[in-house]
Amino acid sequence: MSRLNIVVGITGGIAAYKAVGVVRSLVLAGHDVHVVPTDGALRFVGRPTLEAISRNPVHVDLYEGVAEVRHVAIGQAADLIVIAPATANTIAKLAAGLADDLLGNTVLASEAPIVIAPAMHTEMWLNPATAANVATLRERGVTIVGPAVGQLTGTDSGPGRMEEPDVIVAAALARVEASARRDLAGRRVVVTAGGTREPLDPVRFLGNRSSGKQGVAIAEAARARGAQVTLIAANLEVASPGGCDIREVSTALELQAAVTEAASGADLVVMAAAVADYRPASISESKIKKQPGDDGLTLELVRNPDILAGLGHAPHDGTLLVGFAAETEADDERLLELGAGKLEAKGADLLVVNRVGWTEGFARDDNRVVILGNEGVLARAIGSKMSVAHEILDVAAPRLRETHEPG
Ligand code: C5P
Repeated sequence: MSRLNIVVGITGGIAAYKAVGVVRSLVLAGHDVHVVPTDGALRFVGRPTLEAISRNPVHVDLYEGVAEVRHVAIGQAADLIVIAPATANTIAKLAAGLADDLLGNTVLASEAPIVIAPAMHTEMWLNPATAANVATLRERGVTIVGPAVGQLTGTDSGPGRMEEPDVIVAAALARVEASARRDLAGRRVVVTAGGTREPLDPVRFLGNRSSGKQGVAIAEAARARGAQVTLIAANLEVASPGGCDIREVSTALELQAAVTEAASGADLVVMAAAVADYRPASISESKIKKQPGDDGLTLELVRNPDILAGLGHAPHDGTLLVGFAAETEADDERLLELGAGKLEAKGADLLVVNRVGWTEGFARDDNRVVILGNEGVLARAIGSKMSVAHEILDVAAPRLRETHEPG
Protein backbone atom coordinates (compact mmCIF):
# COMPACT_ATOMS: atom_id res chain seq x y z
CA MET A 1 0.00 0.00 0.00
CA SER A 2 1.33 3.46 -0.83
CA ARG A 3 2.15 5.91 1.95
CA LEU A 4 -1.04 7.33 3.41
CA ASN A 5 -1.64 10.53 5.30
CA ILE A 6 -3.45 9.24 8.40
CA VAL A 7 -5.04 11.27 11.19
CA VAL A 8 -5.25 9.40 14.49
CA GLY A 9 -7.76 11.06 16.80
CA ILE A 10 -7.30 10.11 20.44
CA THR A 11 -10.05 10.91 22.91
CA GLY A 12 -10.17 10.96 26.68
CA GLY A 13 -10.51 7.41 27.91
CA ILE A 14 -8.05 5.23 29.79
CA ALA A 15 -7.55 3.19 26.60
CA ALA A 16 -5.74 6.28 25.21
CA TYR A 17 -2.49 4.70 26.38
CA LYS A 18 -3.13 1.82 23.96
CA ALA A 19 -3.61 4.30 21.10
CA VAL A 20 0.14 4.84 21.20
CA GLY A 21 0.40 1.28 19.81
CA VAL A 22 -1.98 2.19 16.95
CA VAL A 23 0.14 5.24 16.06
CA ARG A 24 3.36 3.23 16.24
CA SER A 25 2.09 0.39 14.00
CA LEU A 26 0.89 2.87 11.38
CA VAL A 27 4.23 4.74 11.43
CA LEU A 28 6.19 1.48 11.19
CA ALA A 29 4.00 0.45 8.24
CA GLY A 30 5.38 3.55 6.47
CA HIS A 31 2.47 5.98 6.84
CA ASP A 32 2.57 9.68 7.68
CA VAL A 33 0.63 9.93 10.94
CA HIS A 34 -0.81 13.11 12.47
CA VAL A 35 -2.17 12.72 15.95
CA VAL A 36 -5.07 14.94 17.03
CA PRO A 37 -5.74 14.35 20.73
CA THR A 38 -8.61 15.93 22.64
CA ASP A 39 -7.87 17.77 25.88
CA GLY A 40 -9.18 14.70 27.72
CA ALA A 41 -6.76 12.40 25.88
CA LEU A 42 -3.81 14.53 27.03
CA ARG A 43 -4.72 13.73 30.64
CA PHE A 44 -3.94 10.09 29.86
CA VAL A 45 -0.96 10.39 27.45
CA GLY A 46 1.54 13.20 27.08
CA ARG A 47 2.03 15.25 23.97
CA PRO A 48 5.81 14.52 23.87
CA THR A 49 5.04 10.77 23.70
CA LEU A 50 2.64 11.31 20.81
CA GLU A 51 5.10 13.57 18.95
CA ALA A 52 7.96 11.12 19.42
CA ILE A 53 5.96 8.09 18.31
CA SER A 54 4.17 9.80 15.39
CA ARG A 55 7.32 11.67 14.30
CA ASN A 56 5.14 14.73 13.64
CA PRO A 57 4.17 17.79 15.65
CA VAL A 58 0.95 17.31 17.61
CA HIS A 59 -1.59 20.12 17.56
CA VAL A 60 -4.42 20.48 20.01
CA ASP A 61 -5.52 24.07 20.09
CA LEU A 62 -8.17 25.16 17.60
CA TYR A 63 -6.86 28.73 17.74
CA GLU A 64 -3.23 27.91 17.00
CA GLY A 65 -1.99 27.89 13.39
CA VAL A 66 -4.91 30.02 12.23
CA ALA A 67 -2.82 31.50 9.39
CA GLU A 68 -2.50 28.06 7.82
CA VAL A 69 -6.22 27.32 8.46
CA ARG A 70 -5.17 24.30 10.46
CA HIS A 71 -8.68 23.51 11.69
CA VAL A 72 -9.61 22.32 8.20
CA ALA A 73 -6.18 21.65 6.66
CA ILE A 74 -5.49 18.50 8.68
CA GLY A 75 -8.80 16.90 7.69
CA GLN A 76 -8.60 17.95 4.04
CA ALA A 77 -5.17 16.33 3.66
CA ALA A 78 -6.15 13.03 5.32
CA ASP A 79 -6.55 9.75 3.39
CA LEU A 80 -7.91 8.04 6.52
CA ILE A 81 -9.10 9.09 9.97
CA VAL A 82 -8.83 6.60 12.84
CA ILE A 83 -10.29 7.54 16.22
CA ALA A 84 -9.07 5.27 18.99
CA PRO A 85 -10.31 5.21 21.63
CA ALA A 86 -13.62 6.83 20.76
CA THR A 87 -15.45 7.75 23.97
CA ALA A 88 -19.24 7.89 24.26
CA ASN A 89 -18.90 11.69 24.33
CA THR A 90 -16.88 11.85 21.11
CA ILE A 91 -19.25 9.40 19.40
CA ALA A 92 -22.17 11.68 20.37
CA LYS A 93 -20.30 14.73 19.07
CA LEU A 94 -19.48 13.00 15.79
CA ALA A 95 -23.10 11.92 15.36
CA ALA A 96 -24.27 15.49 15.96
CA GLY A 97 -21.56 16.98 13.71
CA LEU A 98 -20.11 19.16 16.47
CA ALA A 99 -16.86 20.99 15.84
CA ASP A 100 -15.91 22.50 19.18
CA ASP A 101 -12.35 21.18 19.15
CA LEU A 102 -9.62 20.43 16.60
CA LEU A 103 -10.68 16.79 16.18
CA GLY A 104 -14.31 17.73 15.47
CA ASN A 105 -13.19 20.28 12.86
CA THR A 106 -10.77 17.81 11.32
CA VAL A 107 -13.51 15.19 10.90
CA LEU A 108 -16.05 17.62 9.45
CA ALA A 109 -13.54 19.03 6.97
CA SER A 110 -12.54 15.59 5.69
CA GLU A 111 -13.92 13.29 3.01
CA ALA A 112 -11.64 10.43 4.08
CA PRO A 113 -12.97 7.10 5.38
CA ILE A 114 -13.44 7.16 9.16
CA VAL A 115 -12.74 4.19 11.42
CA ILE A 116 -13.55 4.40 15.11
CA ALA A 117 -12.72 2.06 17.99
CA PRO A 118 -15.20 2.72 20.81
CA ALA A 119 -14.07 2.22 24.40
CA MET A 120 -16.25 2.80 27.45
CA HIS A 121 -17.98 1.04 30.30
CA THR A 122 -20.61 -1.51 29.31
CA GLU A 123 -23.50 0.58 30.63
CA MET A 124 -22.41 3.54 28.50
CA TRP A 125 -22.01 1.34 25.41
CA LEU A 126 -25.46 -0.19 25.90
CA ASN A 127 -27.11 3.14 26.68
CA PRO A 128 -29.77 3.83 24.03
CA ALA A 129 -28.25 7.28 23.37
CA THR A 130 -24.88 5.71 22.50
CA ALA A 131 -26.54 2.92 20.50
CA ALA A 132 -28.47 5.50 18.45
CA ASN A 133 -25.31 7.57 17.86
CA VAL A 134 -23.35 4.50 16.77
CA ALA A 135 -26.20 3.53 14.41
CA THR A 136 -26.13 7.05 12.92
CA LEU A 137 -22.39 6.84 12.30
CA ARG A 138 -22.69 3.36 10.79
CA GLU A 139 -25.47 4.66 8.55
CA ARG A 140 -23.08 7.38 7.33
CA GLY A 141 -20.50 4.79 6.44
CA VAL A 142 -18.20 5.06 9.48
CA THR A 143 -16.48 1.73 10.23
CA ILE A 144 -16.90 0.70 13.87
CA VAL A 145 -14.20 -1.63 15.21
CA GLY A 146 -15.21 -3.40 18.41
CA PRO A 147 -15.63 -2.84 21.23
CA ALA A 148 -14.26 -6.14 22.50
CA VAL A 149 -15.75 -7.98 25.45
CA GLY A 150 -13.48 -8.30 28.46
CA GLN A 151 -12.09 -6.84 31.65
CA LEU A 152 -12.71 -3.09 31.89
CA THR A 153 -10.78 -0.56 33.96
CA GLY A 154 -12.58 -1.24 37.22
CA THR A 155 -13.56 -4.65 38.50
CA ASP A 156 -16.30 -4.95 35.89
CA SER A 157 -16.17 -6.73 32.58
CA GLY A 158 -18.38 -6.84 29.48
CA PRO A 159 -18.54 -5.20 26.04
CA GLY A 160 -16.73 -1.86 26.05
CA ARG A 161 -13.04 -2.69 25.97
CA MET A 162 -11.14 -1.05 23.11
CA GLU A 163 -10.08 -3.56 20.45
CA GLU A 164 -6.38 -4.40 20.39
CA PRO A 165 -4.22 -1.96 18.35
CA ASP A 166 -3.32 -4.57 15.68
CA VAL A 167 -7.02 -5.31 15.06
CA ILE A 168 -7.78 -1.58 14.73
CA VAL A 169 -4.86 -1.01 12.35
CA ALA A 170 -5.82 -4.01 10.18
CA ALA A 171 -9.46 -2.89 9.98
CA ALA A 172 -8.46 0.70 9.19
CA LEU A 173 -6.09 -0.23 6.37
CA ALA A 174 -8.60 -2.77 4.98
CA ARG A 175 -11.17 0.03 4.89
CA VAL A 176 -8.89 2.23 2.78
CA GLU A 177 -8.13 -0.67 0.44
CA ALA A 178 -11.82 -1.43 0.05
CA SER A 179 -12.64 2.22 -0.68
CA ALA A 180 -9.90 2.26 -3.30
CA ARG A 181 -11.45 -0.79 -5.00
CA ARG A 182 -14.40 0.53 -6.97
CA ASP A 183 -14.92 -2.54 -9.13
CA LEU A 184 -18.67 -2.63 -8.41
CA ALA A 185 -19.33 1.01 -9.30
CA GLY A 186 -22.52 1.26 -11.34
CA ARG A 187 -23.52 -2.33 -10.47
CA ARG A 188 -26.76 -3.32 -8.80
CA VAL A 189 -26.26 -5.95 -6.11
CA VAL A 190 -28.92 -7.82 -4.13
CA VAL A 191 -27.98 -9.65 -0.93
CA THR A 192 -30.21 -11.78 1.28
CA ALA A 193 -29.14 -12.08 4.91
CA GLY A 194 -30.36 -13.57 8.17
CA GLY A 195 -32.66 -16.50 8.78
CA THR A 196 -36.32 -16.91 7.93
CA ARG A 197 -38.97 -17.56 10.57
CA GLU A 198 -42.05 -19.64 9.86
CA PRO A 199 -44.89 -18.87 12.29
CA LEU A 200 -46.75 -21.69 14.01
CA ASP A 201 -49.09 -19.46 15.94
CA PRO A 202 -49.10 -15.78 17.06
CA VAL A 203 -46.18 -16.33 19.44
CA ARG A 204 -44.05 -19.15 18.03
CA PHE A 205 -42.01 -19.81 14.94
CA LEU A 206 -39.65 -22.32 13.38
CA GLY A 207 -36.35 -20.56 12.82
CA ASN A 208 -32.62 -21.10 12.56
CA ARG A 209 -29.44 -19.76 14.11
CA SER A 210 -28.30 -17.52 11.26
CA SER A 211 -27.45 -14.05 12.65
CA GLY A 212 -27.12 -12.33 9.29
CA LYS A 213 -23.50 -11.25 9.96
CA GLN A 214 -22.02 -12.75 6.79
CA GLY A 215 -24.76 -11.37 4.53
CA VAL A 216 -24.55 -7.93 6.11
CA ALA A 217 -20.76 -7.95 5.63
CA ILE A 218 -21.27 -8.77 1.93
CA ALA A 219 -23.76 -5.92 1.57
CA GLU A 220 -21.35 -3.51 3.31
CA ALA A 221 -18.40 -4.69 1.24
CA ALA A 222 -20.34 -4.37 -2.04
CA ARG A 223 -21.42 -0.88 -1.12
CA ALA A 224 -17.86 0.10 -0.20
CA ARG A 225 -16.82 -1.12 -3.66
CA GLY A 226 -19.30 1.22 -5.30
CA ALA A 227 -22.40 -0.95 -5.81
CA GLN A 228 -25.98 0.12 -5.31
CA VAL A 229 -27.08 -2.51 -2.79
CA THR A 230 -30.49 -3.90 -1.88
CA LEU A 231 -30.38 -5.94 1.32
CA ILE A 232 -33.24 -8.38 1.90
CA ALA A 233 -33.02 -8.63 5.67
CA ALA A 234 -34.60 -11.63 7.39
CA ASN A 235 -34.70 -11.20 11.17
CA LEU A 236 -31.18 -9.81 11.50
CA GLU A 237 -29.44 -10.02 14.85
CA VAL A 238 -26.94 -7.36 13.78
CA ALA A 239 -27.40 -3.73 12.77
CA SER A 240 -28.21 -3.33 9.10
CA PRO A 241 -25.56 -1.49 7.14
CA GLY A 242 -25.84 2.13 6.10
CA GLY A 243 -26.29 3.27 2.53
CA CYS A 244 -28.22 0.17 1.40
CA ASP A 245 -31.85 -0.16 0.42
CA ILE A 246 -33.17 -2.43 3.18
CA ARG A 247 -36.25 -4.63 2.68
CA GLU A 248 -37.28 -6.41 5.84
CA VAL A 249 -38.86 -9.83 5.50
CA SER A 250 -39.57 -12.67 7.88
CA THR A 251 -40.80 -15.83 6.16
CA ALA A 252 -39.41 -17.71 3.17
CA LEU A 253 -42.39 -16.66 1.04
CA GLU A 254 -41.82 -13.00 1.92
CA LEU A 255 -38.14 -13.38 1.11
CA GLN A 256 -39.04 -14.97 -2.20
CA ALA A 257 -41.34 -12.08 -3.16
CA ALA A 258 -38.74 -9.46 -2.17
CA VAL A 259 -35.76 -11.11 -3.83
CA THR A 260 -37.62 -11.95 -7.02
CA GLU A 261 -38.62 -8.33 -7.41
CA ALA A 262 -35.18 -6.94 -6.52
CA ALA A 263 -33.26 -9.47 -8.63
CA SER A 264 -34.83 -8.32 -11.87
CA GLY A 265 -32.14 -6.40 -13.71
CA ALA A 266 -29.56 -6.89 -10.93
CA ASP A 267 -25.94 -7.63 -11.82
CA LEU A 268 -25.30 -9.81 -8.81
CA VAL A 269 -27.54 -11.70 -6.39
CA VAL A 270 -25.96 -13.21 -3.28
CA MET A 271 -28.25 -15.54 -1.36
CA ALA A 272 -26.59 -15.63 2.05
CA ALA A 273 -29.82 -16.00 4.05
CA ALA A 274 -30.67 -19.31 5.68
CA VAL A 275 -34.10 -20.06 4.25
CA ALA A 276 -36.47 -22.57 5.87
CA ASP A 277 -37.07 -25.58 3.64
CA TYR A 278 -40.44 -26.26 5.30
CA ARG A 279 -43.21 -24.20 6.88
CA PRO A 280 -46.19 -25.25 8.99
CA ALA A 281 -49.07 -26.41 6.78
CA SER A 282 -51.33 -24.05 8.66
CA ILE A 283 -50.81 -21.22 11.12
CA SER A 284 -52.96 -21.41 14.24
CA GLU A 285 -54.96 -18.21 14.88
CA SER A 286 -54.51 -18.65 18.64
CA LYS A 287 -51.65 -19.90 20.76
CA ILE A 288 -51.35 -23.69 20.48
CA LYS A 289 -52.11 -25.19 23.90
CA LYS A 290 -51.09 -28.43 25.55
CA GLN A 291 -53.95 -30.90 25.59
CA PRO A 292 -54.65 -32.76 28.84
CA GLY A 293 -52.99 -36.16 28.69
CA ASP A 294 -51.17 -35.66 25.39
CA ASP A 295 -47.60 -36.92 25.23
CA GLY A 296 -46.46 -34.98 22.20
CA LEU A 297 -47.43 -32.78 19.31
CA THR A 298 -47.05 -33.55 15.64
CA LEU A 299 -46.60 -30.64 13.28
CA GLU A 300 -47.45 -30.96 9.64
CA LEU A 301 -44.99 -29.09 7.44
CA VAL A 302 -45.11 -28.30 3.75
CA ARG A 303 -42.19 -27.55 1.46
CA ASN A 304 -41.14 -23.98 0.82
CA PRO A 305 -40.09 -23.09 -2.69
CA ASP A 306 -36.35 -23.26 -3.32
CA ILE A 307 -35.88 -19.59 -4.10
CA LEU A 308 -32.32 -19.84 -5.38
CA ALA A 309 -33.17 -22.78 -7.64
CA GLY A 310 -36.17 -20.79 -8.89
CA LEU A 311 -33.93 -17.88 -9.87
CA GLY A 312 -31.24 -20.24 -11.20
CA HIS A 313 -33.59 -22.13 -13.49
CA ALA A 314 -35.41 -19.08 -14.80
CA PRO A 315 -33.70 -17.04 -17.51
CA HIS A 316 -31.33 -14.69 -15.69
CA ASP A 317 -29.04 -13.37 -18.38
CA GLY A 318 -26.85 -10.67 -17.03
CA THR A 319 -27.35 -11.63 -13.38
CA LEU A 320 -24.64 -13.58 -11.61
CA LEU A 321 -26.17 -15.83 -8.95
CA VAL A 322 -24.25 -16.74 -5.81
CA GLY A 323 -25.66 -19.31 -3.40
CA PHE A 324 -24.51 -20.47 0.00
CA ALA A 325 -24.36 -24.02 1.27
CA ALA A 326 -24.10 -24.41 5.02
CA GLU A 327 -23.40 -28.06 5.78
CA THR A 328 -22.69 -30.02 8.93
CA GLU A 329 -20.60 -32.56 6.95
CA ALA A 330 -17.26 -33.05 8.74
CA ASP A 331 -15.30 -34.58 5.85
CA ASP A 332 -13.80 -31.91 3.54
CA GLU A 333 -14.00 -33.93 0.36
CA ARG A 334 -17.61 -34.91 1.01
CA LEU A 335 -18.42 -31.26 1.86
CA LEU A 336 -17.13 -30.16 -1.55
CA GLU A 337 -19.03 -32.96 -3.29
CA LEU A 338 -22.23 -31.79 -1.61
CA GLY A 339 -21.41 -28.23 -2.69
CA ALA A 340 -20.77 -29.20 -6.31
CA GLY A 341 -24.07 -31.11 -6.40
CA LYS A 342 -25.90 -28.11 -4.98
CA LEU A 343 -24.31 -25.67 -7.44
CA GLU A 344 -25.57 -27.80 -10.29
CA ALA A 345 -29.01 -28.51 -8.80
CA LYS A 346 -29.71 -24.84 -8.08
CA GLY A 347 -28.39 -23.45 -11.33
CA ALA A 348 -26.19 -20.97 -9.43
CA ASP A 349 -23.00 -19.52 -10.94
CA LEU A 350 -21.02 -19.64 -7.70
CA LEU A 351 -21.56 -21.44 -4.41
CA VAL A 352 -20.00 -20.47 -1.10
CA VAL A 353 -19.67 -23.60 1.02
CA ASN A 354 -19.09 -23.46 4.75
CA ARG A 355 -19.29 -25.93 7.56
CA VAL A 356 -21.73 -25.09 10.32
CA GLY A 357 -22.39 -26.70 13.64
CA TRP A 358 -22.88 -25.96 17.29
CA THR A 359 -19.64 -23.97 17.40
CA GLU A 360 -18.91 -23.19 13.75
CA GLY A 361 -20.36 -20.69 11.32
CA PHE A 362 -23.42 -19.13 12.92
CA ALA A 363 -23.32 -15.87 14.89
CA ARG A 364 -19.52 -15.83 14.97
CA ASP A 365 -17.35 -12.98 13.73
CA ASP A 366 -15.10 -15.18 11.64
CA ASN A 367 -15.78 -17.69 8.91
CA ARG A 368 -14.03 -20.23 6.70
CA VAL A 369 -15.47 -20.91 3.25
CA VAL A 370 -14.72 -22.51 -0.09
CA ILE A 371 -15.97 -20.76 -3.22
CA LEU A 372 -17.03 -23.17 -5.96
CA GLY A 373 -17.74 -22.50 -9.62
CA ASN A 374 -18.53 -24.85 -12.48
CA GLU A 375 -14.76 -25.28 -12.94
CA GLY A 376 -14.34 -26.50 -9.34
CA VAL A 377 -12.75 -24.76 -6.33
CA LEU A 378 -12.10 -21.11 -7.23
CA ALA A 379 -10.92 -19.79 -3.85
CA ARG A 380 -10.75 -20.55 -0.16
CA ALA A 381 -11.28 -17.73 2.31
CA ILE A 382 -10.71 -17.66 6.03
CA GLY A 383 -10.91 -14.71 8.41
CA SER A 384 -13.36 -12.09 9.57
CA LYS A 385 -16.76 -12.15 7.89
CA MET A 386 -15.79 -8.81 6.29
CA SER A 387 -12.59 -10.20 4.76
CA VAL A 388 -14.52 -13.30 3.58
CA ALA A 389 -17.10 -10.94 2.06
CA HIS A 390 -14.40 -9.16 0.07
CA GLU A 391 -12.93 -12.46 -1.12
CA ILE A 392 -16.34 -13.60 -2.37
CA LEU A 393 -16.69 -10.29 -4.24
CA ASP A 394 -13.12 -10.65 -5.58
CA VAL A 395 -14.26 -13.89 -7.25
CA ALA A 396 -17.67 -12.56 -8.35
CA ALA A 397 -16.69 -9.10 -9.68
CA PRO A 398 -14.63 -10.22 -12.71
CA ARG A 399 -17.41 -12.69 -13.64
CA LEU A 400 -20.17 -10.08 -13.86
CA ARG A 401 -21.77 -10.08 -17.26
CA GLU A 402 -20.44 -7.71 -19.90
CA THR A 403 -23.95 -6.71 -20.85
CA HIS A 404 -24.36 -5.01 -17.52
CA GLU A 405 -21.07 -3.10 -17.65
CA PRO A 406 -21.59 0.41 -16.31
CA GLY A 407 -22.00 3.32 -18.63
O1 C5P B 1 -30.48 -26.36 -0.09
P1 C5P B 1 -29.84 -25.45 0.88
O2 C5P B 1 -30.77 -24.87 1.90
O3 C5P B 1 -28.59 -25.98 1.51
O4 C5P B 1 -29.33 -24.24 -0.05
C1 C5P B 1 -28.75 -23.11 0.46
C2 C5P B 1 -28.84 -21.99 -0.54
O5 C5P B 1 -30.14 -21.96 -1.15
C3 C5P B 1 -28.69 -20.65 0.12
O6 C5P B 1 -28.11 -19.76 -0.83
C4 C5P B 1 -30.13 -20.28 0.46
O7 C5P B 1 -30.27 -18.86 0.53
C5 C5P B 1 -30.90 -20.86 -0.70
N1 C5P B 1 -32.23 -21.39 -0.37
C6 C5P B 1 -33.32 -20.87 -1.04
N2 C5P B 1 -34.58 -21.35 -0.78
C7 C5P B 1 -34.77 -22.35 0.09
C8 C5P B 1 -33.67 -22.91 0.78
C9 C5P B 1 -32.41 -22.39 0.52
O8 C5P B 1 -33.13 -19.95 -1.84
N3 C5P B 1 -36.00 -22.78 0.32
